[in-house]
Amino acid sequence: MKDMSDTKPMILTVAERIDDRGDIMQLTLTGDGPLPAFAAGAHVDLLVETPEGPLWRQYSLCGDPAETGCYRLGILKDPASRGGSAALHQLLRAGETVHVEGPRNHFPLAPDAERSVLFGGGIGVTPMLAMARELHAAGAEFTLHYATRSAARTAFLDLIATLPFRDRIVLHHDDGGAAGPLDLARDLPPPAPGTHLYVCGPQGFMDWVIGAAETAGYPGTRIHREYFSAEVDTGGAGFEVECAQSGVTVTVGPEDTIAKALARAGVKIEVKCEEGICGTCVTDVIEGGIDHRDQFLTEEEREDGDQICACCSRASGAKLVLDL
Ligand code: FES
Repeated sequence: MKDMSDTKPMILTVAERIDDRGDIMQLTLTGDGPLPAFAAGAHVDLLVETPEGPLWRQYSLCGDPAETGCYRLGILKDPASRGGSAALHQLLRAGETVHVEGPRNHFPLAPDAERSVLFGGGIGVTPMLAMARELHAAGAEFTLHYATRSAARTAFLDLIATLPFRDRIVLHHDDGGAAGPLDLARDLPPPAPGTHLYVCGPQGFMDWVIGAAETAGYPGTRIHREYFSAEVDTGGAGFEVECAQSGVTVTVGPEDTIAKALARAGVKIEVKCEEGICGTCVTDVIEGGIDHRDQFLTEEEREDGDQICACCSRASGAKLVLDL
C-alpha cells in the first residue's frame, strides 16, 4: 500500500560523499540522532536551490532499512534533468546541509511474495539495493538484475562486492559483463503465483521490462514499478474546475494544468515533481471524468475515479469538481 503520510521537514548533513562511476554520487546523510524509520522502496525529497528557483526532487533510499542513524542515496548527474541533480552534485559536499522531507514509500515490497525478482536499470538500482537488503535479512527468495551500459559506468560495484548476498545480484552490461546484457527471454521467470517483479530505471527500460512481463502473463498487481522521471504531456482541451469547499471555479486552458490554474486563483495544491510520479499533488475528485496522465496512481485507483494528480492530469469531460 502506498504511504501518503505527512512527514516532518529535516535539515540533514552530508556525512560522506563518494563520487562513483557513471556520474553517480553516493551520499550519506545524518541528523542529530536516529532518523525516521523507512522500509525498502522508500524515497526522500531533497530541496534543491537552482537559478530558476527552489525544486523538490525525490531520491530512493539505498541503505539498510535496519540502519537508523543515516540515509544513504545515489544521485545521478543527469544531463537531461531540469537542473536539480546537477545543482545537488555541485552543492552537496561533505559537511553541507540539505532540507529533506520523508521518507515516504510508494514502492513497498509485497508481504506475501514467495519470490521477488528485482530489475534495476542504471540509477534505478537504488531502491533495489534497499529491497535486496530487506529480503536477505528476512531470508526471502530473491534475485536482483542490475543492468547498465558498461562496467566502467556502473556505480555501487565496490559496495556490492562487500554485500553478503552479492551472489544474488546479477550484473548485466550492454557491452558484456559476466552475465551479458539483460535478456528477458532468459532472465524473466515464468509468472508463477507468488512471484513478484520490481522494476525501476529509465522510461525505456521500464517500458521494456513491464511490456515483457505483461506479455508473459504477469498481472499488474505483481509488477511493481517506480518511475524516476516521466515524459508527460499535460496539454489538451480546456475544461472547468470547481472547488466544492471554497466555491472557487477556474478554467484550465489547453496548455495549463489544474494546479497552476488553481494557484492563480489562490487555491494552493502542493506540487513537487510536476510530472506525475511523486503523488504530492493527489487531490480527491467529487465529480467528473478524469484523463489520467500520471505514472503514480495504480490501475485500481484510476478505476475508482476519485483521485487526480493535479500537476498533470486533466478532465475527460467539460468539468471536474474537486474536494478543495
Ligand atoms: S507533483 Fe508529483 S505527481 Fe504531481
